Amino acid sequence: MMDLQRALLYSFFIISIISSYNCSQEDPLDHNHLKEQASGYDSQAYPSYVGDGEFEGLIKLQSDVLGLQTLSDGGSKSIPVKTIDLNDSGVRADGEEDDTELFETAWDEACSSPEGATIVVPQCNYRLKPIIFQGPCKSNIAFQVHGTIEASGNQSDYKKDGKHWIVFDRVENLVVDGGGVIDGNGKIWWENSCKVNKSLPCKEAPTAVTFCECKNLAVKNLKIQNAQQNHVTFKKSNHVQVSNLTVTSPEESPNTDGIHVTDTQNIQITDSVIGTGDDCISIVSGSKNVQATNITCGPGHGISIGSLGQHGSKDYVSGVTVNGAKFSGTTNGVRIKTWQGGSGKCKQHQVSEY
Ligand SMILES: *[C@@H]1O[C@H](CO)[C@@H](O)[C@H](O)[C@H]1NC(C)=O
Ligand SMILES: *[C@@H]1O[C@H](CO)[C@@H](O)[C@H](O)[C@H]1NC(C)=O
Ligand SMILES: *[C@@H]1O[C@H](CO)[C@@H](O)[C@H](O)[C@H]1NC(C)=O
Ligand SMILES: *[C@@H]1O[C@H](CO)[C@@H](O)[C@H](O)[C@H]1NC(C)=O
Ligand SMILES: *[C@@H]1O[C@H](CO)[C@@H](O)[C@H](O)[C@H]1NC(C)=O
Repeated sequence: MMDLQRALLYSFFIISIISSYNCSQEDPLDHNHLKEQASGYDSQAYPSYVGDGEFEGLIKLQSDVLGLQTLSDGGSKSIPVKTIDLNDSGVRADGEEDDTELFETAWDEACSSPEGATIVVPQCNYRLKPIIFQGPCKSNIAFQVHGTIEASGNQSDYKKDGKHWIVFDRVENLVVDGGGVIDGNGKIWWENSCKVNKSLPCKEAPTAVTFCECKNLAVKNLKIQNAQQNHVTFKKSNHVQVSNLTVTSPEESPNTDGIHVTDTQNIQITDSVIGTGDDCISIVSGSKNVQATNITCGPGHGISIGSLGQHGSKDYVSGVTVNGAKFSGTTNGVRIKTWQGGSGKCKQHQVSEY
């Protein structure tokens, strides 16, 4: 029953994707499939990560992220870092007025800066309409959220693109952290979900934070809550480190996956607490080398790989490792969801729970 609803949702997604931003336009699956064939990659030939070229990629990621850490801590002497503090604008953020322009201006300045730039979101309340932080940028960017960023709760603000609230698109060498809160203010969307009110038509709601075609990315030390639909989506991204996130929304909030991974490679998700109304982590087609370590999951539907093979499609997910996940109040632990009539690979997964 639930999978049927998902199928409906996914098909809505496919139909409506054409009108959204650039990086959603190509078919991610075919692209990945071709690449995999061209490089002669055969996941069966590599039973463990050691010796697999991708493993080196992960080690490289860690040193990249360390470099970025220095940047987000204020920078070493050798890297000049520009700091853009939203408080310097003199805007009194109180969560009542719209602050979208303030963020757009700050992003433009950071992204066009030839030196590494840090955007500081101070301990105030900011309110944002849907926004795209567009790359590529001239240099590294640290986005430090110390305060609270809350989504506009006016649904007519989402008319242009009903699928996304905050998007980082084609940004490389990015750290998003700061100890603050990103709040999707999702109540209005949940109330208007067809899963909650059966008399309403089924419509997609925005993902709170989407990283699309990003590379060398760290997302950490944040609370992400009350998403309209998914909380955080990594799409077509590579070399991603996610750690110390607290992702929460009410158990009865519909379709609020915690972390959704699609067509993304070399991603580590560690030390995070996720409790939502849907999957804690969902991993779908085109994803490779996904490591989830020390995840506390619940309430929610557990960690899922799939749904794979819907509409008879060929889906490829390989190299998923789940270590030390704790489940409480979840309807499932780790599950692989497949559809009849689909084909493809879903292999080399290791699961150890404690
Ligand atoms: C923001 O700036 C004002 C002065 O313009 C200062 O009083 C306030 O403490 C600052 N807030 C933060 C969070 O830095
Ligand atoms: C929502 O936004 C629309 C258009 O921007 C505006 O006309 C309307 O007054 C807003 N509604 C609320 C409740 O603020
Ligand atoms: C469900 O939606 C209908 C149509 O908009 C509305 O009239 C009704 O009050 C809603 N029910 C609940 C429980 O919100
Ligand atoms: C984890 O993130 C929270 C903010 O959500 C922060 O207060 C805490 O210091 C972080 N822990 C570590 C070990 O960095
Ligand atoms: C697991 O993650 C939690 C935070 O989510 C952290 O407090 C704890 O120290 C981590 N455990 C290990 C073994 O790293």
